[in-house]
Amino acid sequence: MSAQGVNKTRRRVLVAATSVVGAVGAGFALVPFIASMNPSAKARAAGAPVEADISQLEPGAILRVKWRGKPVWVVSRTAEMLEALPTLDGELVDPASAVPQQPEYCQNATRSIKEQYFVVIGICTHLGCSPTFRPEFAPDDLGAKWRGGFFCPCHGSRFDLAGRVFKGVPAPTNLVIPVHTYINDTTILVGEDRGAA
Ligand code: FES
Repeated sequence: MSAQGVNKTRRRVLVAATSVVGAVGAGFALVPFIASMNPSAKARAAGAPVEADISQLEPGAILRVKWRGKPVWVVSRTAEMLEALPTLDGELVDPASAVPQQPEYCQNATRSIKEQYFVVIGICTHLGCSPTFRPEFAPDDLGAKWRGGFFCPCHGSRFDLAGRVFKGVPAPTNLVIPVHTYINDTTILVGEDRGAA
């Protein structure tokens, strides 16, 4: 073999060896990256159900979790808040939740599985802003008729404490309720559908 022939062969061998090292190196680089993700990060990445621990949630307060990158809220409604809901029906666009913005098991007067706890996706049905939680009764800026709810600061849409939209605002429909279920009395699993269980 000529000197040139030997050089060509050497070069081919070297290129092949480098490619193998590159592939193995890439493999090693990936493993630590995936292993470094903690279980909840992996679950979030996959859009898995998310647990909401409501054991410390006081009546009248809100708990916020994230599911599939969206804000999900759990509100613990007081008896007074629940009593106010039916009194608002005449002012609402869809008081009976005829539009399927909720799983079937939440198509009821309180739009919930357990009437105390209201689970909802915190995104306005107008253009997607996140409304503000306004649980007070008759605050100055929202008027004497306000019985607690959600106010969207972007264009003024108003929703009651069952996420039902008021007439005369830009949002066309009630807030969306995600599928969810109760694992036990103090834990809600958002993203898991087991019917009304
Ligand atoms: S995005 Fe909420 S009112 Fe427009």
